[in-house]
Amino acid sequence: MSQYIIKGGTPLTGEVSIGGAKNAALGIIAAAIMADDSVTIENIPDVRDINVLLDALTELGVRVQRINRHTVKINATKINSFRADSEAIRKIRGSYYLIGALLGKYHHAEVALPGGCSIGSRPIDQHEKGFQALGATTEKKHGLVFADAEKLTGNHIYLDISSVGATINIMLASVLATGQTVIENPAKEPHVVDVASFLNSMGANIKGAGTDVIRIKGVEKLHGTTYSIIPDQIEAGTFMMAAAITHGDIVLKNVIPKHLEVISAKLMEMGAEIEESGDSLRVRAGKELSGVNVKTFPYPGFPTDMQPQTTTVLATCTGTSVVTESVFESRFKYVDELSRMGAEIMIEGNTAVIKGPKSLTGATVSAPDLRAGAALVLAGLAAEGYTVVEQIEYIERGYEDFEKKMMELGAVMAKIEQGNERAIKKFKLKTA
Ligand code: EPZ
Repeated sequence: MSQYIIKGGTPLTGEVSIGGAKNAALGIIAAAIMADDSVTIENIPDVRDINVLLDALTELGVRVQRINRHTVKINATKINSFRADSEAIRKIRGSYYLIGALLGKYHHAEVALPGGCSIGSRPIDQHEKGFQALGATTEKKHGLVFADAEKLTGNHIYLDISSVGATINIMLASVLATGQTVIENPAKEPHVVDVASFLNSMGANIKGAGTDVIRIKGVEKLHGTTYSIIPDQIEAGTFMMAAAITHGDIVLKNVIPKHLEVISAKLMEMGAEIEESGDSLRVRAGKELSGVNVKTFPYPGFPTDMQPQTTTVLATCTGTSVVTESVFESRFKYVDELSRMGAEIMIEGNTAVIKGPKSLTGATVSAPDLRAGAALVLAGLAAEGYTVVEQIEYIERGYEDFEKKMMELGAVMAKIEQGNERAIKKFKLKTA
């Protein structure tokens, strides 16, 4: 178990290169097992959730060759099991894409019920609704989801919630079905569109991803492909917020500014300066920033995965801000940790009322989940004194080289073994 130790107060400046989108890579890696040939995926992030899913493919008899840190070659022609049930796979959320991929290709799947961040109940009723509409039966028993189908036939599916996971899983289950499938009220996130583009590069026929209606015409087979994953919208947003909270000046490389528009707009409302050019985006936040109101919503709304990082920045901004979390029912658990650093935040149901500006002070805090963990690091970067962030394995699930990238921007921080008091003392002496 490791932890970060951070000495706050240094404005972050310089360039950071953004990696591939974790939440696109999870769907794409699962989809790769549906091809009748080898698939090469480039720009995958080297993070724990991805590596766990790749290990799960190997356990199914799929050939997985790591060409380099960010490129993997997958060949599932010798797959010999449809049961994914390892301790590791039970810990990640993206495991559920194996249900859609195995069902869609082999008409059978036995996959451990998904884990994932504790930000609310994570039901899969919309996924099951889609699978059943295509003619499959689904059953949950012994901690696994069983899905079976004699035949898969296209259907008209109306999602009750614009669920990212259900949208991707129904695309996976329907690309080889007989006839057309229509998904109404789908999720439109960039990573959903990226999975659709990947499937089309293998010969699928999917139209309308990113719009209010997705149409999938079933095809006979899916061939091999080489595909590069889009940049991670949330990793980029996290570094944008790091520039804001430290009043720094950061240039993000390898981004798609269009995917970041809603985050850029919010930062400009707060008084930060944003400059876009091609595949890079600059964030400058020299002066005092003002509080704003934020309401999370499925894309193109403000991403729920940016809520903890943004709430943390708002704790240091002038004025009162109101943040409403409308996607998950308990995504404010980290606020208790922030309050120990001096933030003044009151939670009423799914709303946070933030009184600023507050100068944060360093403390020992614990990451409750992936994005909240990143938010606590941002708090430490701005706080006066030293902050220790524990349980950083949550952060390593979704951020590649997080501390290395922050240190290259000037952050005074280090990764040390949990509870290694000597290392903490040494760091404090070195950075005093
Ligand atoms: C994906 O989770 C992401 N995870 C989450 O990112 C992200 O927060 C979320 O989408 C929303 O953008 C991955 O892609 C691996 P949903 P997912 O289905 O698919 C309810 C991160 O930080 N719902 O869009 O689980 C659900 O409870 C992670 O990278 C149902 O009720 O999200 C939630 O309230 C955290 N029934 C809402 O819909 C269902 O069948 C949105 O969930 C499915 C979802």
